[in-house]
Amino acid sequence: MAEEAILGHLEKNVEISDSGDFASQSGIDHNEIVNVIKSLHGFRLVDAQDIKREKWVLTDEGKLYAAAGSPEVQLFLAVPPEGISREELQRKVDPSVYKIGCSQAIKNKWLEIGKQQVSRKVQQVEDTAKDLLTRIQNEEALSQADIDALKRRKLIALQTWKGYSVRKGPNYAPKRKKVATDLTRENLQRGDWKELEFKEYNFNAKGQSAEGGHLHPLLKVRRQLQMIFLQMGFEEMPTNNFVESSFWNFDALFQPQQHPARDSHDTFFLQAPSTTKMLPEDYVERVKHVHEHGGYGSRGYGYDWKREEANKNLLRTHTTAVSSRMLYLLAQVEKFLRFIRGDVYELKPFAPKKYYSIDRVFRNEAVDRTHLAEFHQIEGLVCDRGLTLGDLIGVLQDFFSRLGMSQLRFKPAYNPYTEPSMEIFSYHEGLKKWVEIGNSGMFRPEMLLPMGLPEDVRVIAWGLSLERPTMILYGVDNIRDLFGHKVDLGLIKRNPICRLGIEQLTGLDWLLGCAPIGLFDNWVLYLFARRSDHTAFGGPLGRDLGKGLKCFLVEMRDILGRKISTSPSTGAGFSCMKCRIGLVPVQTSTRLPLHSKEFLNRRQPPPTTKIR
Ligand code: PHE
Repeated sequence: MAEEAILGHLEKNVEISDSGDFASQSGIDHNEIVNVIKSLHGFRLVDAQDIKREKWVLTDEGKLYAAAGSPEVQLFLAVPPEGISREELQRKVDPSVYKIGCSQAIKNKWLEIGKQQVSRKVQQVEDTAKDLLTRIQNEEALSQADIDALKRRKLIALQTWKGYSVRKGPNYAPKRKKVATDLTRENLQRGDWKELEFKEYNFNAKGQSAEGGHLHPLLKVRRQLQMIFLQMGFEEMPTNNFVESSFWNFDALFQPQQHPARDSHDTFFLQAPSTTKMLPEDYVERVKHVHEHGGYGSRGYGYDWKREEANKNLLRTHTTAVSSRMLYLLAQVEKFLRFIRGDVYELKPFAPKKYYSIDRVFRNEAVDRTHLAEFHQIEGLVCDRGLTLGDLIGVLQDFFSRLGMSQLRFKPAYNPYTEPSMEIFSYHEGLKKWVEIGNSGMFRPEMLLPMGLPEDVRVIAWGLSLERPTMILYGVDNIRDLFGHKVDLGLIKRNPICRLGIEQLTGLDWLLGCAPIGLFDNWVLYLFARRSDHTAFGGPLGRDLGKGLKCFLVEMRDILGRKISTSPSTGAGFSCMKCRIGLVPVQTSTRLPLHSKEFLNRRQPPPTTKIR
């Protein structure tokens, strides 16, 4: 109806000068007229020019006084010519009428308000406020002084009205033709494509979001953990072999062959190929010896060590199998160097190493809410001369506080390959209890010395699962909802970025606990975003600001929706649909919660000379 009315009007007239007038003349709702104009404009059937009008309208309070009279007049009329006691007057009128009425009536010199008694100072009053408000309602013009007075009393407010003036456009027709949007097979067969009119391409339209390329929460958490290890100077170990021999998975780790973990109830053994082909023979001999008879100050286990047992292939049950291979390799490099330098050349001293791995392991376990037969392990180890349990505790404190867990406790435990061993517990603020988060220890000399590492070299190590922190961070309580064939693909397509440690830390603790931190003297350049619900997230940027910002925006696109405008709106900041993103240099010695006013006011232009 609105479309016919507009196109029909333009057929006989040059223009619709005001869509508002047009709406009231034709009796159609103005919103509907506006929508149709927008659509017709899009197809260039009409040209439309914006019209903006501002007008004063009454606030709720203004409407009240326009109907019932101003409070000052209401109050005045409540005072009889002979006067009235304050108490009684207060009883007669509404508290707000009394309060506002008093101040206005005193200002107008209408009433004398004594301690006890209220009396009239004049015999008659005029309700100017009510008159003015009625005139505003009738859209009459008022003097600026009157407008100001009403505005000050918050009785009127400015309202903007938006409409259009409309003329014929280049594609004008009295009736809109339906245009084809697609050339179909049927069009080609019938041959009617020759007559069809096609819709023009809109090259400015937003594209559909890409279907692929989403990261699984496990991968996001893994990425954050990798970042943490890299920041701490760890190198990644090669973990690309799910199939391992019992030798590297158990024997090299001084795990006796009768150990229950080596049972097929706990471990998946391979049928084909069922055994490994190659093991370093001299090392195998030393491992056999240490199992059977000990050595290096140990008594060993005193049993018949069987090569067939060590040869059995399995799906690795822990990533410590990778660590044992790496340490062996390290010892061989060391031995080789000792060999070539002989006693004369002290060429290269033992090089300390920090290694980590994050990859999949397999256990023949019953599947339940928290267990699957395959999961991921995170493992870290430090190899250096003279390390102690104190070093292990220190490294663990550092590592876990970067994950947002700064309250740790340790409990003595047992692993065949570490002594001493400690289970790691962290206080969980949400669950209000101590939860076990990992296992750790110092590798035994029975493991390290047969490899050929120097005698004073100690290795501290720890391991944890990737699934557990991911489930906590993403609020998944059944592991089968996170991993495996029952997982909802929506979870993978729509899950937030992972910033480890955000929950537990606030303010600068949080800033400093995040991704790589560019420290410029004691300034951190920090990229932050705050959503309207005050959840904040972000990460400090490296030196390459432009690139960092771009990556960050791309990363956030998923949670914020696609509309991120990259036009600078607030200094160095960017704003997008639902949040504000800004570059914040923060002085690291200050400690303010991120959401506090003081923190946000502290924003200053980045020290540009330092940042390239
Ligand atoms: N391999 C241990 C596990 O599977 C973890 C661990 C790694 C313990 C390194 C101590 C040292 O639980």
